[in-house]
Amino acid sequence: MSLKNKNVLIGICGGIAAYKVCELIRLLRKLEANVKIIMTQNAQKFITPLTVQTLSQNRVYLDTFESEYSYDIEHISLTNWADILIVAPATANIIGKFANGIADDLLSTTFLAFNKPILVVPAMNSNMFENRIVQANIQKLKQMGINVLEPDAGLLACGVYGKGRYPENQKIIIEIERLLEKKDLEGKSILITAGPTREYLDPVRFISNRSSGKMGFALAEEAYKRGAKVTLISGPVNIQTYADIKIINVETASQMYDEVKKMKDEHDILIFSAAVADFRPKNFKESKIKKDQWQNLHIELEKNPDILKYAGETKKDWQIVVGFSAETENVVENSQKKLYEKNADLIVANNVLQEGAGFDVDTNIVTLISKDKILEFSKLTKREVASKIFDFIVDYLCRKEQR
Ligand SMILES: Cc1cc2nc3c(=O)[nH]c(=O)nc-3n(C[C@H](O)[C@H](O)[C@H](O)COP(=O)(O)O)c2cc1C
Repeated sequence: MSLKNKNVLIGICGGIAAYKVCELIRLLRKLEANVKIIMTQNAQKFITPLTVQTLSQNRVYLDTFESEYSYDIEHISLTNWADILIVAPATANIIGKFANGIADDLLSTTFLAFNKPILVVPAMNSNMFENRIVQANIQKLKQMGINVLEPDAGLLACGVYGKGRYPENQKIIIEIERLLEKKDLEGKSILITAGPTREYLDPVRFISNRSSGKMGFALAEEAYKRGAKVTLISGPVNIQTYADIKIINVETASQMYDEVKKMKDEHDILIFSAAVADFRPKNFKESKIKKDQWQNLHIELEKNPDILKYAGETKKDWQIVVGFSAETENVVENSQKKLYEKNADLIVANNVLQEGAGFDVDTNIVTLISKDKILEFSKLTKREVASKIFDFIVDYLCRKEQR
């Protein structure tokens, strides 16, 4: 999901975290979103309209009755303009007003008129946040379909540790993307494998590969934003992801296989993007192999379980199985063969020798292959590839339903 040309309206309130919103505005502008700001009167005690006006490259809206600029009724014209309203930081005061229908300033009036997605980002002292009245107000907003981002726990500006911290701006961006994304995977549960596996020779040495896990994580994040419930079984990688994606960490191919076996039937769509080692050392040495033992050492390998094949052979009518194929020649023919041999619904094929494709880079060059369709793409970011894959899957599901 790109935020390019999306219209984001931000309401800033009088909380100490107001200064952090300046960075959010910068991030949104970098993503080429259009940003307009409403500031409450008390917000202007924390940061100046000049700062947010300069950062947002738009005039700032401060007062319901300020009409010198046009004949517009601001709370209505801003509502018409915006795709989403973000209230950050949301004070206990504004949350109370929202929950009780009070419309006594421009932000609270706009809130009542706003009929598109709203994200409220509370930030306050932990005693205030945990106060039963504030909690009841938050619950009321949630029940009415308003999205409320949980604050972080940590050291607060007032010097105490607790829950109430303004979350990372990146987390807010992800939520905005999620709320603006089409929800064509709503109600689907998706299992994705990602990353490399490690096949141990002894307790400290292993055979692995260059997979970074970026493709699998991009898929998980895209699916989550499009409304799916996502479980990610990941080999050892160095990537953080959203709290709402369930992650199961594994190391070896056998562990990954066991987890897939356990969870396969709870999911509608199974995507195998992990670079699973085909072989593992036959004899695992319980203690570290010493230097003098290496001279005559021969490593005998045995086959690992074929997870994609297992999933294809045991899939139910209502399940979709997607495999990845890393090829170095005859990409389409080899992948088509794989599609039939593994009884998969879709193969995502790439030529890992091409520059900008495959392991450990942020881009990929893929061809999507099902039994009745082949789609080729030029170099795209892994996020864009994830989006194309889910477009393909949604289209495939529609065609499957019509058959
Ligand atoms: C230094 C200072 C910091 C404050 N920080 C917060 C805060 O982080 N969260 C909050 O809910 N209220 C905070 N308040 C209280 C609000 O400013 C106060 O409730 C105000 O009426 C909110 O107005 P508004 O919601 O119209 O912006 C703070 C007040 C002061 C003086």
